[in-house]
Amino acid sequence: MQIDLSGKVVLITGASRGIGKAVAAGVAQAGGTVAIHYRKSRAAAAHLAQVLGHGARDFQADLSRITACERLFREVIDHFGRLDVLINNAGVAVHTPLDAPTDTWRSDWARTMHVNLRAAELLCRMALRHFRSRGGGRIINVASRAAFRGDTPAYMTYAASKAGLVALTRTIARAYGKENVCAFVIAPGFVRTDMAKDSIDEYGEDHVLGDLGLNRLTEPEDVAPIVALLASGLADHATGASIDINAASYVH
Ligand SMILES: NC(=O)c1ccc[n+]([C@@H]2O[C@H](COP(=O)([O-])OP(=O)(O)OC[C@H]3O[C@@H](n4cnc5c(N)ncnc54)[C@H](O)[C@@H]3O)[C@@H](O)[C@H]2O)c1
Repeated sequence: MQIDLSGKVVLITGASRGIGKAVAAGVAQAGGTVAIHYRKSRAAAAHLAQVLGHGARDFQADLSRITACERLFREVIDHFGRLDVLINNAGVAVHTPLDAPTDTWRSDWARTMHVNLRAAELLCRMALRHFRSRGGGRIINVASRAAFRGDTPAYMTYAASKAGLVALTRTIARAYGKENVCAFVIAPGFVRTDMAKDSIDEYGEDHVLGDLGLNRLTEPEDVAPIVALLASGLADHATGASIDINAASYVH
């Protein structure tokens, strides 16, 4: 059995680095064409498009803005004429302790909810309408272990946004499966990326490792194969499922 994504157009948000970049490489390796979304790293995204081949192309959008989400989707459809798989991977984890100034608290919650949940919701809506008019598609939303077990207090907003993403995904899976739309949650634990760097710096790698059931930290490349499998249609009967990728640090 082989994962074959040839002929499929796959939009991956936040694909210029970290988990998104590794997933983009995995999708391209399986023959898929990647729409590489990025916010700031234009050079990195353009270089990645060149390396991946298969017609990959970069698209810029700040996902904290509603109009930018809508423009992103339109540009992808205008360029490729279709979309087969949407992977909502972009996300932020903002440190917001309980005693942060009220203005900071409000703006951190607003930004986190927008990037982690609202942008995904907007893109899911547009993808669903597109998929239903074309006979189906796949959605993969990158949530987190935090959606299920919670997070440290200063990342309450992060955990809440990811839990919303889980409910959104499960609702899509229940509602549109009969129209050949499948939707999955990926729930990573601690993955060695820029997002996790502060925690590694603060607590040390050994501390993080102590939580895991394996003997090395999870790398972005450990996430990519499962996402490619879900995108391929080979795992459609797992629609609605949340796949834990956290080295047994939390299994639900
Ligand atoms: N690294 C971890 O330990 C971990 C654990 C669980 C879940 N995740 C999730 O995995 C996903 C990928 O994160 P990562 O670990 O690769 O971290 P990362 O910080 O390297 O990547 C985050 C991506 O999101 C993009 N992004 C952030 N704000 C944006 C905005 N306003 N507009 C557009 N794009 C924006 C960034 O440009 C970047 O490409 C995130 O959703 C994250 O919550 C990560």
